[in-house]
This record gives sequence, structure tokens and C-alpha cells, in this order.
Amino acid sequence: MNTSDTQLDPRMHPHQAVYGVIGNPVAHSLSPLIHAQFALQVKQPIYYGKLYAELGQFRQTVDTFFARGGQGLNVTVPFKLEAFQICQKLTERAQAAGVVNILWQEEGQYVGDNSDGIGLVRDIEKHPFQIAEKRVLMIGAGGAVQGVILPFLEKKPSQITIANRTLAKAQVIVDRFLPQALACGIQLNAMALDQVMQLQEPYSVIINGTSSGLQGTSPLVADQAQHLEHIKQMAEPCLAYDMVYGKETDFMQQMRACGFEVKDGLGMLVEQAAEAFEVWRKLPQGSLDTVAVRQMLRQSIT
Ligand code: ATR
Repeated sequence: MNTSDTQLDPRMHPHQAVYGVIGNPVAHSLSPLIHAQFALQVKQPIYYGKLYAELGQFRQTVDTFFARGGQGLNVTVPFKLEAFQICQKLTERAQAAGVVNILWQEEGQYVGDNSDGIGLVRDIEKHPFQIAEKRVLMIGAGGAVQGVILPFLEKKPSQITIANRTLAKAQVIVDRFLPQALACGIQLNAMALDQVMQLQEPYSVIINGTSSGLQGTSPLVADQAQHLEHIKQMAEPCLAYDMVYGKETDFMQQMRACGFEVKDGLGMLVEQAAEAFEVWRKLPQGSLDTVAVRQMLRQSIT
């Protein structure tokens, strides 16, 4: 898709601070709706649009946007790693995540931040659901999962198990975050997804961070889903979360059938956007009403 709707040009909005989301594809993005609501809430004259970049043209598209007066970009699939690579400065959480979803310039240098992880954690805690002392099972070991591990560790769960189809990728993430986990007394371990059947301890939070939902499949076969039901912590609420939003994925259906409370990633999308808005506009954290925006979006997409 390559329409004028996705060709954000800051020169067309001379009286507003211009922000946007860059991706491929990007036409489907809900971010302009979300940021328009935030701008109304704090009465700030910003314009937020969509910016399509061809594969291989990310850097050039970003350079042009900022040269034309753009103030900041959210970065979505498949450019988060490229965004990380063009930054001369990174926040600590972007450094830890290894990918960037918030980009801006300071004195001509690109600065990168990552709010995906804090977005997920905030959405879960607003649910409300406390992560502290809980066992967390994270399925997947791509950029999406790597980006959320540090904020999870900061919430002090008792254990995080990363289960991935390809064990070696889960192990790489574990190795990367093991020092922080050990420092906080949190168990962090990797396992192959097909070994989920061997888990015996109760897990209270199960997160699908794979891209399976986008392919119309679940990372779990039926037996595995039933095993998770078997090991869930019966005494406490148990949450199954899919980072995908806007549709009931196969994973969500499986977990619902197994008696889990189920949540999609719409709230994570709104929370990470709020964090970006607050960073760009130098607002105190918590300035924006994310619950109202999530409810508005839920109504508009169902
Ligand atoms: P992202 O940046 O969105 O995380 P990615 O880096 O391509 O995307 O990672 C996709 C993740 O989803 C990986 O963990 C992948 O497993 P592998 O590492 O084994 O490839 C996982 N994944 C994708 N489709 C899957 C499926 N059908 N079943 C299980 N895992 C799947």
C-alpha cells in the first residue's frame, strides 16, 4: 500500500508539531487515532500521521522526514532493528531491548527509546494483575519478546521461562538478561516449546509473543494448551495474554477454552503510545488517560 494517506510530509502541517508511525505495511495502524486522542486530552497542537517506507529505504525515509521538520517517529514492523542501528544515542531500556520503537532527534543526532515492554507491563498491571512473585511463561524469542524482558524483570516475578520453537534463540535472550535476573533473585530459564509438557510448577501469566497470531495459527498444539491448564495456579487468577491486537487469535481461543482469563495486545498498543507521547512532549508519566482511549478503540474495531 502506498497512498497519500501513508506519505506523511511535515511541510504540509506548518503550524503543528508533526509526529508519525513508520512501517511496512502501515496503512492499518491505529496509532494516529490514539495520538489524536492524547493531543485532545492535553490540548496540544500536534499532527500524527502514517509514513510508509519501502524495504531498504528506511534510513532515507527517516532522514527526509526529519529534514522536513518532523519531530518524532514511532517505528513498527519490520524496522525496529534498523531504527536501533541508526541511533547515536539510546535510552537504557532501548539498549536492553536491542530494538527501538520511539525515535527523535537531539542536536542532529538520532535518539532511540523503547516503550513496548513498559506498555505490556502497564497494561497487565492496570488489568489489574500483579506480576510480582508470579511465574511468567513467555512464548517466543523474537524481537517482540526480547523487548519486554527488562520491564518484566523490574516487576520482580519469581520466575520467567522463555519457551521457543527454536531453543537456541530463547537461550540467547536468557544469556543476555541473566545478570539482571540474578541480581534481583529471579529465575530466568529457556526451554524448547515442545518441552512445555514437562512443566510442573504453576504459572500465573502466559504470554504469546510469537507472530503465530498474524499467521492464523497458535504456537501451542491442543495437548500443550491443556497441559498449561493443568499447571495454572488454581488459587490465583491466571492471565493469558497475546501481544497481537484486534482479533481473537487461535492462542486466545485455546486459553479461553482452558479457563484462562484472556487479553489481547490492544492495551499494550495504547500504553506504549502514551509513553512515546509523554517522552516527546516532556509530560510527566501518567499524564494521559489511556483507559478512555483503549475503550474508544475497542468500540471502533469491534
Ligand atoms: P518479532 O520481532 O515480531 O518477535 P521475529 O523476530 O520474526 O518477530 O520472531 C517471531 C517469533 O515467533 C519467533 O520466536 C518464532 O519462533 P522461531 O524462533 O522458532 O522462528 C515465533 N513463531 C512464529 N511463528 C510460530 C509458530 N507458528 N509457532 C511457534 N512459534 C512461532
